[in-house]
Amino acid sequence: MAKKEAKPRKFQAIRGTRDLLPPETALWNRVEQTAHEVFATFGFGEIRPPIVESTELFARAVGGETDIVSKEMYTFEPKLEFFRENFRSVDEAMQSEGRLVRALELVAVFSENLTSALQLKQMAENRETVEAAEALEKLVIESIERRNAGESQPDDNWRALLNRAEQLLWSVDLGGRESLRPEGTAGVCRAYIEHNMQQLPQPVKLYYIGPMFRRERPQKGRYRQFYQIGAEILGGPDAPAIDAELIEMLMTFFEKLKLQGVELAINSIGCPQCRPKYVHALREKLLEFRDRLGEDSRRRIETNPLRVLDSKLTSEQEIIALLPKIADYLCEDCRAHYEAVKHQLELRGVIYRENWRLVRGLDYYMRTTFEITAQGLGSQNAVCGGGRYDGLVELLGGPPTKGIGFAIGEDRLILSIQESGKGAAPQGRAVYIAWMGERAYATAIRAAKDLRKAGFRVELPPTELRFGKALERASKLGSRFALILGDNEVADGQWTLKTLADGSQQKLTEQALLEYLLKV
Ligand code: HAM
Repeated sequence: MAKKEAKPRKFQAIRGTRDLLPPETALWNRVEQTAHEVFATFGFGEIRPPIVESTELFARAVGGETDIVSKEMYTFEPKLEFFRENFRSVDEAMQSEGRLVRALELVAVFSENLTSALQLKQMAENRETVEAAEALEKLVIESIERRNAGESQPDDNWRALLNRAEQLLWSVDLGGRESLRPEGTAGVCRAYIEHNMQQLPQPVKLYYIGPMFRRERPQKGRYRQFYQIGAEILGGPDAPAIDAELIEMLMTFFEKLKLQGVELAINSIGCPQCRPKYVHALREKLLEFRDRLGEDSRRRIETNPLRVLDSKLTSEQEIIALLPKIADYLCEDCRAHYEAVKHQLELRGVIYRENWRLVRGLDYYMRTTFEITAQGLGSQNAVCGGGRYDGLVELLGGPPTKGIGFAIGEDRLILSIQESGKGAAPQGRAVYIAWMGERAYATAIRAAKDLRKAGFRVELPPTELRFGKALERASKLGSRFALILGDNEVADGQWTLKTLADGSQQKLTEQALLEYLLKV
């Protein structure tokens, strides 16, 4: 009996990722085009940083203890790290013949991969690594010879060999780990430093559009690959007008897109001078309520008490209302800065609401923080988050530099626009050319070329269709007009144009047709 053929596996986009498809992509393009236009009027230029960066960059900038860095990053280990990590200890290898053999195999695989990585120039070829690779190869040969001679019980000779192997394993510089970017600010600051942008006229105003990656639990408005439209202002003073103008730009952008139910919340989270006092007071108070807090908040009392303010747990809301407020702890400079930011927003007619609980989930913020919500998004209703991060460039090895920025969640922005019914993209191909006959086809090709040149969307069927069939297709595609070209039309030089919505027809010359279409 013939063997039943296995069906090839069907693939699906992986969890938390999705395809953006037409006609929706037209709306994505419209949103991005609007960002390019509005941001340009505020003097921003586009930056396109890479999507992978050193893991260490995000750990330092966003914070190693944050959820984003500690739980959600897509990180690539150097291939050889696996074997090194699995080589636990010489003592363990000495416990049995099986463990010894396993340890020797790990060393052999490491050695083989290291040698080939060096040959293929996949690794930096420093002297130490090259020497380690050679010494490891010799060790592996030695161990094979011993095992061939029947020596495979743990003993002092093996211990000595494994000790040397372990030393060599750790002397190799495997290069750092790399991660898919979970956000854009760290990369932009890295680029500012790398390209000495502090030598340009300050501040430097940059924006970016592109995918970010966080391994969160997917839900409506929350994806593992999502898109941000972000902007950063680096260098120059920390004048409150800069904060306000950045927010004004955001509001202008959202207004242009007719985003509904936009609400701006602002706060100041102080600076390294005044915040520690607040964090201390907060921690003390939280300890009093420790037993009534959930597990996450209890952990955060130690790691990051500010994040407790973010909690959405109903059971914790009463407690949070009793906690000390940052506004009462701001130093004089921070208080004045915050007051001035609010004044500057008022000068620009930007409506805001103060939210003392707005602390944000990334470590680099100081002073001004803000978030914008919009309608139709359910629990993931923040379309934009941002704030000031004056110490960040310095923390990443650059000169002392002021900084402020935001990132819009483009997926959520699009969702909100769609939910409010403002997202319908102009659709359908404008002109469908229904042709029949060889001569008509040549004319149809020319007509398609001319109409496209004039900016029309043209659909030219690749094979001959009966007129009835062609008209059916045209209306399925949502075309506005059908241009009917048969031998009669070509012979008379009078083309038939059918308006699909009402079925009316008219005869026009080639020239008159173009003029008519350009007018309607
Ligand atoms: P963020 O608050 O982590 O800030 O992200 C900004 C926005 O990205 C959020 O308000 C949300 O709209 C969107 N977003 C975040 N995670 C997801 C997700 N998993 N799925 C869909 N959308 C998401 C930052 O990323 C900072 N870098 C913003 C910034 C720039 N601050 C200063 N400069």
